[in-house]
Amino acid sequence: MHRIAEAELMNTPEQVQAYANADFEQPHSYFIELLLDCFADSLSTEPGDSLCYALDLGCGPADISRRFARALPHYQIDAVDGAANMIAMAARLNQACGLDQRIQLFTALLSELELARTHYDVIFSNSLLHHLHDPDQIWGTINRYAQTGTRVFVMDLLRPETTAQAAELVQTYASDEAEILRQDFYHSLCAAYSLDEVQGQLQRCSMDYCTLKQISDRHFIVYGVSP
Ligand SMILES: C[S@@+](CC[C@H](N)C(=O)[O-])C[C@H]1O[C@@H](n2cnc3c(N)ncnc32)[C@H](O)[C@@H]1O
Repeated sequence: MHRIAEAELMNTPEQVQAYANADFEQPHSYFIELLLDCFADSLSTEPGDSLCYALDLGCGPADISRRFARALPHYQIDAVDGAANMIAMAARLNQACGLDQRIQLFTALLSELELARTHYDVIFSNSLLHHLHDPDQIWGTINRYAQTGTRVFVMDLLRPETTAQAAELVQTYASDEAEILRQDFYHSLCAAYSLDEVQGQLQRCSMDYCTLKQISDRHFIVYGVSP
């Protein structure tokens, strides 16, 4: 099926509340597990002598930033989202678990992002790409804030072959979720990019150093170390 774009930002109070209440324990812990696996030979979970810095693009309520902060205690994280209500929710949740000093939040569209840091040791993103009408924005932002040795890790949804398959995936993986989340999931699947499209984006954006890998019936990852 052709891609059906969805709204970029998730900023309605209902969406933000539903997303923050959703149970992402399995996929988000898997995200961290895969990220650590992909860089097992270069990313130490043991604190070294100096602080390291990570960037989370499209952080939403920042659940993945908090998991990353717990897994890698020597990291400081900058987390960015264009939706002000998502960032407000992330701020509340970070504060509630005492991680507000480790995770700095920024309300900004990727296209308008101006961060004080010029580069990061790790740049990661989950489920942002399919929201973007111009997918090269994520790869351009990564290029801008990466330097030699930056570990890049992106996970996103894959577009199914048909809308019927998208509906089946919603039924299989989100039957117990709130209706608003089920609708978001369906629209996200329809808006997702195919493996061929993502490969084309990586080539176009000079990110051939990255590996693109399908990891489930609905997800792929892109990972690599910036040269
Ligand atoms: C599906 S959520 C994923 C949130 C989080 N990464 C997670 O996995 O829980 C996608 C997020 O990307 C944000 N977003 C979409 N387009 C954006 C853009 N152009 N610039 C910044 N953030 C954007 C949305 O507001 C939303 O919070």
